[in-house]
Amino acid sequence: MMFQRKKIFLFALIWAILQIIKVNSKNLLFAREFLNSGDTVTGWTYNNKVQCQGQLIEANKQVYMLNSGQKQSSKTYTNLPNHYRFEIRIDFLVVDNPYGPVQFIADSQTLATYNFNSPGQDMSICGDPSVKDKYERVQYKKPHSSSTLTITIKHNLGSYSMLGITDLQIFLDTCHPFCQACNGPNSNNCTACGSGSGQTLSTSGTCICPGQLLMQNGSCVSSCAPPQMASGSICIDDPCQINCTTCSSSTPGQCAKCSGSYRLFNGNCITQCPSYTSNINGVCIDMITQYWNGYYLFQGFFESDFSSISFENYGFQGNYFDPYGDIPNSDMATYSDCYGVRLYSGFGIYGQFVYITNRWNIPWKHSSVLVKMKYVQVENYEVNYNTNQLERLSINLNNQEQAFLLSGGTDLGCGRLDQGETMGWLSANTTKTVQDGYLNLTITNNFYNPTWYEGIAFRELVIIVSKCI
Ligand SMILES: *[C@@H]1O[C@H](CO)[C@@H](O)[C@H](O)[C@H]1NC(C)=O
Ligand SMILES: *[C@@H]1O[C@H](CO)[C@@H](O)[C@H](O)[C@H]1NC(C)=O
Ligand SMILES: *[C@@H]1O[C@H](CO)[C@@H](O)[C@H](O)[C@H]1NC(C)=O
Ligand SMILES: *[C@@H]1O[C@H](CO)[C@@H](O)[C@H](O)[C@H]1NC(C)=O
Ligand SMILES: *[C@@H]1O[C@H](CO)[C@@H](O)[C@H](O)[C@H]1NC(C)=O
Repeated sequence: MMFQRKKIFLFALIWAILQIIKVNSKNLLFAREFLNSGDTVTGWTYNNKVQCQGQLIEANKQVYMLNSGQKQSSKTYTNLPNHYRFEIRIDFLVVDNPYGPVQFIADSQTLATYNFNSPGQDMSICGDPSVKDKYERVQYKKPHSSSTLTITIKHNLGSYSMLGITDLQIFLDTCHPFCQACNGPNSNNCTACGSGSGQTLSTSGTCICPGQLLMQNGSCVSSCAPPQMASGSICIDDPCQINCTTCSSSTPGQCAKCSGSYRLFNGNCITQCPSYTSNINGVCIDMITQYWNGYYLFQGFFESDFSSISFENYGFQGNYFDPYGDIPNSDMATYSDCYGVRLYSGFGIYGQFVYITNRWNIPWKHSSVLVKMKYVQVENYEVNYNTNQLERLSINLNNQEQAFLLSGGTDLGCGRLDQGETMGWLSANTTKTVQDGYLNLTITNNFYNPTWYEGIAFRELVIIVSKCI
């Protein structure tokens, strides 16, 4: 009994510590513009839109465009919440034989300058099929803390060319709610504290309430308002009060029954069972339970709401395409939104010789390795005319192809499920023991076309290893 209590206390302590250093809120989508045909353009120097009828569905709509008489347009966003960094993602078109510079500026800092000097390359994305266009997706990340942000789009393209923006997103990496200003997302990254309640900034960067007062969401209170509870000198979320109707103790992962439509998963209440589980009567049953001595080597790419998503965040490496050398200082966009599904890669990792790879140590003997991912076919997989082989998307494990997807689809952008492109699951299941004690996963292709045709897009990747005893 004593032991139980000690254990619970220990859990509570670890939970409280985790709460304090928890990366609380980041990647807040602060603004999104130009995405839909019907959206009105407000706050910009120019507000004109031009109908674009093209080959890429992302561009096939009313697009915000600047012509040769409109060389510069800007907008100032105001009332930004406390943050330490912004990230901007811009999908843009340069229409009709692009020739000349295009520039993106944040406040007075240049994010990137493009110099288009290859008229006639790429494809006719917008309108006239006899003149070629360009389509780029890029993102930039910069430290920033001011409550206003001015974005300027500039160009000096040839007289018949136009610059169009099909999507612009601004994300803010916000401060922890305990901080008034910060240099990072955590509660010990504060650089200033709320005024009026005698808060002090400790040398370790934490905002502290005076005396017996408790820190709750940037204010000092005498008791925590629900659904939070006191933990030391701060208020933390009470896992028993949040989305849970029955629980055995106020420690995390102890919910026994979730409220409303929430699903119970490992003692926590979540909105939807992850794809590596089955929903049985509102409880998510992990598929690992079906594996003899199973162990997750990797689980990731499940996010549906993220901004700085990139496979690098998961320790993956990839090679990027830049066939014409047009893309300066850009980490390239590494996701696409296709038919309401957010996918890794897609446009960011595209065409010939492109791969995504990672490597894990497997220090124990094992009987099988399962790799499973959701894919969306982007564009048309046909024939590689150099090798005369059918084009394929491959999952390679330790340099051997273990699963592949062949042919199909149509030459339309972004996984047009309504046009015969497919979304599904691709799995590799191998019983070969990896002798060298590591697993190298490489997702790659043998595509023929360098760009715009045929892409890799995936999400929800899991790797399960069945260990030997
Ligand atoms: C923010 O806090 C983390 C620990 O929570 C620390 O590692 C990091 O250095 C801090 N960032 C800055 C800029 O101080
Ligand atoms: C925390 O404080 C901020 C700013 O005062 C407020 O906008 C937000 O709603 C508060 N959150 C909660 C959970 O009370
Ligand atoms: C509880 O539900 C809300 C609303 O869906 C969600 O935003 C929040 O993350 C959930 N909190 C926990 C601790 O599960
Ligand atoms: C995995 O193997 C491929 C092919 O040999 C190699 O190009 C890649 O760099 C390896 N990946 C890692 C993360 O080591
Ligand atoms: C993987 O292969 C092993 C051995 O053939 C088999 O026992 C297991 O059921 C397979 N798993 C899946 C998910 O197909």
